[in-house]
Amino acid sequence: MPDAARRPYVVGNWKLWGTRAAATGYCERLAELEPDGGWPVDTGLAVPFTALDAVVAGLHGRATAVLAQNMHQEQEGAFTGEISAPMLTELSVDGVVLGHSERRQLFGETDRALQEKVPAALAAGLQPILCVGETEEERERGETERKLRGQVQEGLDKVADERLADVVIAYEPIWAIGTGQVATPEQAQEAIAFVRALVADRSREAAELTRVLYGGSVKPGNAAEILAQEDVDGALVGGASLDPESFAQIVAAAAQ
Ligand code: 13P
Repeated sequence: MPDAARRPYVVGNWKLWGTRAAATGYCERLAELEPDGGWPVDTGLAVPFTALDAVVAGLHGRATAVLAQNMHQEQEGAFTGEISAPMLTELSVDGVVLGHSERRQLFGETDRALQEKVPAALAAGLQPILCVGETEEERERGETERKLRGQVQEGLDKVADERLADVVIAYEPIWAIGTGQVATPEQAQEAIAFVRALVADRSREAAELTRVLYGGSVKPGNAAEILAQEDVDGALVGGASLDPESFAQIVAAAAQ
């Protein structure tokens, strides 16, 4: 069980799914599933830019956070196709997923850009979820820790010590994303404890408070055993979050 100081957090990442119409229907169904008194753990939904205001409206008055899936580090400028932090906060968005492996692998997201994006999100009042994780080849070559060290240290490099605990980190092994090949609870625990130790290198106090999530093929059937691990503070859920019922089941598993 995670430390009581760290409230479990389950975030759905819709990726490139979710028209506004679908998003509104999803929120209605999720509201029906929400227990009286609210969800037992912190919850969030990271949705496409075009669905953000529909989800903000659909979840109005509920504790579930609304997050974007990317953001540019500059507030404005000649950056065609980009979205900035003030544009997100204007929509009452709560946070932003940064450095997802799909953005790193498919869209050229770099640690250097993330070094600017994470503090820019914090400065704007957005909760950043910094994603890190190794490929299958890196794991097989024994380079998992080297990879995580680089990503975590660079992503947090320009974050002041007193703000470190406001950054949520998601450990998402790339070989487990969308593959159905979930990490074992032991693999998740080992990597996430290592991520926490990296935060402790900066500040022990922050490391105790920083929430580190696991992501990669989390489903209602496997969530409980992963979330029961000592250092696993929640989950970043892709495919299984597209169905409100299975998302609600994973949230329930996180509360056990
Ligand atoms: P899946 O849950 O579909 O494997 O995706 C994980 C993920 O990438 C969440 O950000």
